[in-house]
Amino acid sequence: MDLSTVDIKRGLEGVIFTETYLSAIDGDAGRLSYCGYDIGDLAGSASYEETAFLLWYQRLPAENELEMLSAWLRANRHLPKTVWGIMHSLPEQATPMEALRTVASTLSMFDRSCLHEVEGGSSLCRAVSLTAKLPTIVASFDRLRRDRPPIEPRTDLGHAANLLYMLTGEEPDPDDADALETYFVLLADHGMNASTFSARVTASTLGDVFSSVVTALGTLKGPLHGGASQRSMEQLLEIGRVERVDEWFDQRVAAKQRIFGFGHRVYKTEDPRATILRKLSRQVAERTGNTRWFDISSRLEEKVLSHPYFQERRIYANVDFYTGPLLYALEIPLDLFIPMFAIARIAGWTAHMLEQQRNNRLIRPRAYYAGPRDQVWNEMVQRTPLVEAQPDIQCVAGRPANCPAALEVPPRF
Ligand code: ACO
Repeated sequence: MDLSTVDIKRGLEGVIFTETYLSAIDGDAGRLSYCGYDIGDLAGSASYEETAFLLWYQRLPAENELEMLSAWLRANRHLPKTVWGIMHSLPEQATPMEALRTVASTLSMFDRSCLHEVEGGSSLCRAVSLTAKLPTIVASFDRLRRDRPPIEPRTDLGHAANLLYMLTGEEPDPDDADALETYFVLLADHGMNASTFSARVTASTLGDVFSSVVTALGTLKGPLHGGASQRSMEQLLEIGRVERVDEWFDQRVAAKQRIFGFGHRVYKTEDPRATILRKLSRQVAERTGNTRWFDISSRLEEKVLSHPYFQERRIYANVDFYTGPLLYALEIPLDLFIPMFAIARIAGWTAHMLEQQRNNRLIRPRAYYAGPRDQVWNEMVQRTPLVEAQPDIQCVAGRPANCPAALEVPPRF
């Protein structure tokens, strides 16, 4: 079998590896639902805690059930004392996503509260614990790096309101808290996206919830996935004024550079989350009296939608496009956009881990080996170097100071 005859599903496009009862995406109709409930009905009506209940238990909670889950989540918002020492010792240049990934990983060593292993009980317990703690980690890190003392979480505030409170120290405007809560609901789950898939791969090894969440955090960070929300806002900042959109767009297209916040592997029409976020973003902009970023994004979207290149490829705004102006209007720092995504998506990640482990099979695809075969091993003295000899190689910070550039280039066949 040679490479040209192998049916490689690069990026696993179109591959169905499992069934799920969590979210359904109709990429042609532009519809998304969680456990059968349309995202349009959930957004603005369900709280994040209610949405987490829906994903974890696959049904909507009755009032007392939601009260119980909310109390459970809220009681888990505090970080163990020893974790503060680690937070304080993070290097100055640590980014919020690096801090989040590191501290989330560290928590596994301190969290021994859920040791009973009853039918996935401990996994759900850890899912609750991490879902509750992610906002505390993000807000505390943000304050520490600004030389401000972290603020203890409050149990009388909802998920989004408590996060805004921990960031600023002030009780937020209820409309701001509602807008962020809706954002969290909209992003809570989304089929087999890259970070969820990676979380399920880890779960399929019977790895623990912490390991799966850390895997997912690492995957989310990339600019083709969760990183696009930050990049799409950076684009708006780079454009600066609505009058500059057309020129910026033409240059970008001419340079064949991607426009962040557009395109999707599954949606070949408008992402239904973008529809809701556009509206939310406009409302927040109008309420705060600053429509500048919303206006730039609207104009940019018009340019994209009317350009044949994007029309031919059925490229529309995705969830990350209107996330930018929304979070920016809520005064969320730019580099907290990806952590915000993580804070929302953890309900979905953990629901998928639980689902994976209920009917588990180790996820282990194959790759076609395309390199040379039957090579003859020869002694070192017989090998021809591709790199010039370097006497006296000095190692600085784990890397040869006079490392020949050729060694840094990955090999290609
Ligand atoms: N800007 C310009 N061109 C684009 C864009 C874009 N945003 N997205 C896709 N294209 C073009 C590609 O260049 C390619 O063109 P070609 O056929 O001439 O080679 C064609 O459309 C198909 O692109 P692919 O990358 O093959 O499509 P895929 O389904 O793999 O891409 C992806 C999906 C990665 C999201 C892509 O649209 C992209 O890079 N978008 C920008 C980054 C972004 O916004 N990511 C967030 C996605 S949503 C999320 O993860 C939460």
